[in-house]
Amino acid sequence: MAELGHEVLGVDVDSAKLTKLEAGEVPFYEPGLEEVLRRNIAAGRLRFTSSYEEAAAFADVHFLGVGTPQKKGEFAADLTYVDAVITTLAPLITGPAVIFGKSTVPVGTAQRLGVLARELSPAGEDLEVAWNPEFLREGFAVQDTLHPDRLVLGVDRDRPGRAEDVAREVYSTLIEDDIPFLVTDVATAELVKTSANAFLATKISFINAISEVCEAAGADVTVLADAIGHDARIGRRFLNAGVGFGGGCLPKDIRAFMARAGELGADQALTFLREVDNINMRRRTRMVELAREACGSLLGARVAVLGAAFKPDSDDVRDSPALNVAGQIQLQGAAVTVYDPKAMENSRALFPTLGYAQTAFDACEGADVVLVLTEWPEFRKLQPADLDAVVRKRVLIDGRNCLDPQQWRDEGWTYRGLGRP
Ligand code: UGA
Repeated sequence: MAELGHEVLGVDVDSAKLTKLEAGEVPFYEPGLEEVLRRNIAAGRLRFTSSYEEAAAFADVHFLGVGTPQKKGEFAADLTYVDAVITTLAPLITGPAVIFGKSTVPVGTAQRLGVLARELSPAGEDLEVAWNPEFLREGFAVQDTLHPDRLVLGVDRDRPGRAEDVAREVYSTLIEDDIPFLVTDVATAELVKTSANAFLATKISFINAISEVCEAAGADVTVLADAIGHDARIGRRFLNAGVGFGGGCLPKDIRAFMARAGELGADQALTFLREVDNINMRRRTRMVELAREACGSLLGARVAVLGAAFKPDSDDVRDSPALNVAGQIQLQGAAVTVYDPKAMENSRALFPTLGYAQTAFDACEGADVVLVLTEWPEFRKLQPADLDAVVRKRVLIDGRNCLDPQQWRDEGWTYRGLGRP
């Protein structure tokens, strides 16, 4: 928002994060974000605070972007943090203002929050709640925010207020750049977001299901994906078979979507997402099986795991297939050593019992099998000769189909991909 030229106050309840942000440090790894942060702090357009009072007094446009994690022991989304923002902020707002929700929420949430906000705020009907879902990808957050492929806004159709005009003003530079701006009701806007993530998850699980058939038939899923991907109706993106999807969004979003559809009496419509989830989780089990096959037995084996983040260019390990596979293999008696270019600290915090190495080579020291589980450029560039001297056995399983099988085989390695002969 500051980069788009606005005066911005960032609010967080985590004082450690605020301290870092104020010092121009991003508290997670996101390429290019630190420069944007520093540039805008220096320009005086961006400040941070923990005070809701200050936020309410400062702004008449509020963006709500807190987490909606999966509830413990349930599929549904935990809306505690979203609700807390409204119950804390709304009573402090005294004049006309708009709150734009960006969090991924179950359909119906915006409507409920609108009622709550109007009840709690001295501004009453002058406080509007609209929904403006976020489609950015981790690792491409800056690019996706400054050059999104679309903007979606859901407004309360029963109370046509200022929300659309305010959004058009906030996003004016993007709208002038001809970025599609779709205005709809709040329920549709909420569903756009969950449907987009459900579609992406389905696309990945589709190719992973086909990859299981390819394995059974001795076919190659990577060539198959290239071939079907040339059909513009299908498209090649998000057709990479491997250990599947993870992260803080896709897995919990498809579950929350199923839970919400159930509450609405439309559960049958989304039963296929249960299968999407099953196919995805089966990739992790398959990876463990392949590692066991490679070692004979996992008991006492030494396993190198390259990659811990749920995808490259991120230090996020939430529901990461890589870390999950590493953990399962360790639980079955192997000594596992993990290396990731950026996610070491987060991995240690989540899985302190795994072994960690400072470099890919150190992780591969004495390994019976090397697993590539996140397709970082650093791993794509690995040369068989680089690892020849450190491993115990020259066996590599490519969980992201990101290396050249021929090259590794030509140089004397046993190479296995997922869904490849
Ligand atoms: C996802 C969506 O792509 C964003 O549009 C959305 O805004 C975001 O969730 C969100 O809801 O906030 P993100 O979680 O950053 O973004 O990650 P993706 O790039 O979608 O990747 C998700 C997972 O799918 C990763 O584990 C990745 O390795 C895996 N993946 C992706 C595959 O296994 N195969 C593919 O072909 C593509």
